[in-house]
Amino acid sequence: MPAARILVLFAHPAFERSRVHRRLVAAVRAQHGVTFHDLYEAYPDFDVDVRREQELLLAHDLIVLQHPFYWYSTPPLVKQWIDLVLEYGWAYGVRGTALRGKRLLSAISAGGPEASYGRSGSNYFTVRELLAPLVQTAQLCGLELLPPFVLYGTHGFDADDLARAADEYGRLLAALRDGRVDLDAARALPRINLDLGALLA
Ligand SMILES: Cc1cc2nc3c(=O)[nH]c(=O)nc-3n(C[C@H](O)[C@H](O)[C@H](O)COP(=O)(O)O)c2cc1C
Repeated sequence: MPAARILVLFAHPAFERSRVHRRLVAAVRAQHGVTFHDLYEAYPDFDVDVRREQELLLAHDLIVLQHPFYWYSTPPLVKQWIDLVLEYGWAYGVRGTALRGKRLLSAISAGGPEASYGRSGSNYFTVRELLAPLVQTAQLCGLELLPPFVLYGTHGFDADDLARAADEYGRLLAALRDGRVDLDAARALPRINLDLGALLA
C-alpha cells in the first residue's frame, strides 16, 4: 500500500474514564503526520460541522474510525457523523464520488474475549459480521474497508496488555502512513493486528 495521509476519527463518550483508548490516543498523538480528530470533544452537542468534516476527509487517504465497541456497534456520535457527513451527491449517488479510492480502517476495543465472538460464543456473531453496516457503507461510498484493528478482552487488560496494545496500534499507524503494509497479506486476515509482526516485517 502506498504512503497515506491518515485521519483518525476518535469517538469515546466517556473518555475521562477510559483505560484502553487513553493509551491508544497517546499512541496516535505520538505519530507525526497523522491527523487526530476527537469527535466528542469537537461536537459535545452532536452538532456536526458537515463542511469541516468533508474537508478533512478530502485531505486524507486513510480514515481510521477509532472507538470502543458499544452494544456491538459504534458510540452514537459516530452514527450521527455518518448520517450527516456522508451526503447524497457527495459520498454516494449521482456525482457522489468524493471518497472513491480512499481506505477505511475500523479500530475498536471490545470488552468481550475473542472466543465469545463466534457461533460457539456468547456473542454469536463475529465482529466482522457485526460491522456489516460499515462494510456496506464503505462499499456504497467506494471506500476500501481494511480488516479491522480489534482489541478483544479489554475488560481483563493489565498494564502489560495496555502497553502492548498501544505499541501495536502506533506501529500499525506508522507503517500505514509510510506505506509499509503488505495489503494483500492484510486483506486475508480476520483482523489486521492478528500477527502484526509478520505483517510489518
Ligand atoms: C455502554 C457500553 C457498551 C458496551 N458494549 C460492548 C459490546 O457490545 N461488546 C463488547 O465487547 N464490549 C462492550 N463494551 C465494553 C467496552 O468496549 C470496553 O469497556 C472498552 O473497550 C474499554 O475501553 P476504554 O477503557 O477506553 O473505555 C461496552 C461498554 C459500554 C460502557
